[in-house]
Amino acid sequence: MGKLLEVKDLKVSFHTYAGEVQSVRGVSFDLDKGETLAIVGESGCGKTITSKSIMRLIPTPPGEIKSDSQILFEGKDILKMSDKELRDLRGEAISMIFQDPMTSLNPTMKIGNQIAESLIIHRGMNKKEALEEAIKMLKLVNIPNAEKRVEQYPHEFSGGMRQRAMIAIALACNPKVLIADEPTTALDVTIQAQIMDLIKELQNKLGTAVILITHDLGVVASVATRIQVMYAGKIIERGTTDEIFCNAKHPYTWALLQSVPRLDTKHKNKLYSIQGTPPDLLKPPVGCPFASRCEYCMQICKEEMPEVTKISDTHSVQCWLQHPLAPKVEAPIVAGGAE
Ligand SMILES: Nc1ncnc2c1ncn2[C@@H]1O[C@H](COP(=O)(O)OP(=O)(O)O)[C@@H](O)[C@H]1O
Ligand SMILES: [Mg+2]
Repeated sequence: MGKLLEVKDLKVSFHTYAGEVQSVRGVSFDLDKGETLAIVGESGCGKTITSKSIMRLIPTPPGEIKSDSQILFEGKDILKMSDKELRDLRGEAISMIFQDPMTSLNPTMKIGNQIAESLIIHRGMNKKEALEEAIKMLKLVNIPNAEKRVEQYPHEFSGGMRQRAMIAIALACNPKVLIADEPTTALDVTIQAQIMDLIKELQNKLGTAVILITHDLGVVASVATRIQVMYAGKIIERGTTDEIFCNAKHPYTWALLQSVPRLDTKHKNKLYSIQGTPPDLLKPPVGCPFASRCEYCMQICKEEMPEVTKISDTHSVQCWLQHPLAPKVEAPIVAGGAE
């Protein structure tokens, strides 16, 4: 059986007065039915551009998706779809939620009507049926008093409730893929955990595959089946959640793990932050993009991008430390965020 979604060698650039910004530099991954894949990396590494490419939401120009890139949904290339096919895809097959629900919610329209709208367009319901379904959807995302809430406007909802409403809209047409781009970043920690639990619960209930995008490795520990670590437009390590939390191989992944707040009290106040800044994507380095910030950097790291090393069937990494000629380096004690 084919994969639900396959991203193959995705390359996305922006043409600016300063030059060509290479935001995504050859990203490949796939997504199975019903799984939760996390894409994790610092701000600016290309997570949003990757997810917007899947929805074909990159404005071209100034953006350009390189012609040898492919994004296959059930075998069909999204990058070659007609406008009509794209409308159907966005309404029924793949939905996306963003960090700030206020930018996607319509402030002048009742929440119920916003959910109903897509049901009327994509599922051919009449207004009455669609509003009844909207109430069901609000209940599904655990919004209390759903009958009353459908009559309210977005500004009458709290931040967490708005994100729940966004999830209800995104899931109304029962998509096969939900892309959640930093869905909890704007929320406080308790609400963050509730939204993550909700995504997990809905995923179990509805079988939707989820691509969960975040800069915070800590939030995905209990939700993701697999994790991909992204840096400067590339995926530099990927594995199951266990493999990433317990057996990470890339110094950048180690650094991300060390930035996760630890649950034990001893280290509570020692939050690690990664020194230095990511490279300029106008002139990406020829070698490993993390080299300039890496405490294990060797000469070769600055000269050549390492090949992919397979650690297991599900785990791979792109780092010169895996080379037989490289010195043996032990991972620092990490995995602060694992349960
Ligand atoms: N419209 C644009 N013009 C130029 N550069 C852009 C544009 N949109 C994004 N970029 C650049 O692409 C890179 C990746 O951005 P993005 O995918 O938004 O990162 P993030 O991982 O934080 O979601 C960043 O360096 C950003 O500055
Ligand atoms: Mg982003």
